[in-house]
Amino acid sequence: MIEDKKRWNERHLSRPMSKDASKTLVKYIEHANIGQALDIACGTGRNSHFLLGLGFDVDAVDISDFALTKIDNTPTIKKIEADLDSYNITPNRYDLIINMNYLNRRLVSQIKDGLKQGGVIIFETFIVAHGEFQMPTTNLDYLLRKNELLHTFIGLDVIYYEEKIEVNRLGERVKVASIVAKKS
Ligand SMILES: C[S@@+](CC[C@H](N)C(=O)[O-])C[C@H]1O[C@@H](n2cnc3c(N)ncnc32)[C@H](O)[C@@H]1O
Repeated sequence: MIEDKKRWNERHLSRPMSKDASKTLVKYIEHANIGQALDIACGTGRNSHFLLGLGFDVDAVDISDFALTKIDNTPTIKKIEADLDSYNITPNRYDLIINMNYLNRRLVSQIKDGLKQGGVIIFETFIVAHGEFQMPTTNLDYLLRKNELLHTFIGLDVIYYEEKIEVNRLGERVKVASIVAKKS
């Protein structure tokens, strides 16, 4: 949607994202075969750049054309400006799919289909939380429920699952769920 694109472009401009790759990605990347990766809602590419350094070819998808300008121009990162509300993941294409700090439940079955046999999903995003915890949004469409991520990928071989409290860049406490799982 054009409104989402505008909103996210403004947000990327006003609040630049971290350049550090996700700690979960760095810790668990050894479980994936180096090959073709998909970075869902890649933002300004902190994780795509990390994968590039390891030798992956990356399809980096985001709605924000501004964010995509911050990603290296190199033949091994394909920048795809698309709305993930309508974008379709190519089946059986990926050795690795990552989804960090973003939730679009429409994509779940496409993620599973998009993995090759032996392909790995690394998925981490925010859980609904109350009381002392902050949430990046109040829209429940964009927040996981407790144990939801585990249920979502339970048919894969789960390598790691955790729900934990983290402190964000503003010093606020947030709850996140992370999963690393392999398609056998
Ligand atoms: C919180 S950022 C996370 C970026 C990146 N995954 C990371 O961890 O650094 C969420 C990203 O989702 C993108 N996004 C939001 N809605 C989208 C949509 N409908 N289609 C594609 N990308 C979208 C935004 O532009 C933004 O880059």
